[in-house]
Amino acid sequence: MDKSEIKLHDAISHILFTEDQIKNRIFELAETINEDYKHKYPIFVGVLKGVFIFMADLLRKIDIECEVDFLAISNYSNGARKRGVVRLVKDLDIPIEGRHVLFIEDVIDTGLTLNYILRNLQERSPASLEVCTLFDKPTRRLIELPILYKGFDLPDKFVIGYGLDYNEQYRNIPYVGILKAEIFQQPVGNSIKLKQGL
Ligand code: IMP
Ligand code: MG
Repeated sequence: MDKSEIKLHDAISHILFTEDQIKNRIFELAETINEDYKHKYPIFVGVLKGVFIFMADLLRKIDIECEVDFLAISNYSNGARKRGVVRLVKDLDIPIEGRHVLFIEDVIDTGLTLNYILRNLQERSPASLEVCTLFDKPTRRLIELPILYKGFDLPDKFVIGYGLDYNEQYRNIPYVGILKAEIFQQPVGNSIKLKQGL
């Protein structure tokens, strides 16, 4: 199938979470985070690009003083990715030593990427380092990770929307759904080999 023939919403075989469901869950997460971090002046750290929509919606429900920063990473290759090795293409602007860091993630799959990033951040001696993920695929996990705040569990399927992409597309779908199998199997260009912007 030619990609240009696929309309955005036709790429979804099944909706998992509607805009309203996501919004309500984010509100609940923000209430807990507001309480837990109220006197800590935290830094919210996200990895571009997948997290940008979640970060924007969550942060607008955070009503305590805080700072926000982003990392950008790129996979070296499929082989390196399997070992969870990533390249930092944009570092944090804010020093995190002695600060309370809440790491915000869109989806945790094997956990290898996050494990690599958390080790990198931990070396900078933050006062605390916790994880908040909107989506989790617990059945795919290869490494145990401490997740303090979680939005939803996902089945072992490739999902798109709400910031999550397939080959850089579909991030702008406002809900989350399962990508149709025929699109997922479609041959992809070199971009997938050195995929930018997880
Ligand atoms: P991990 O290292 O296997 O945990 O990879 C996590 C990263 O893979 C996420 O930050 C996403 O960029 C990407 N990813 C994993 N599952 C999905 C999915 O279902 N849809 C879109 N991206 C995904
Ligand atoms: Mg991500």
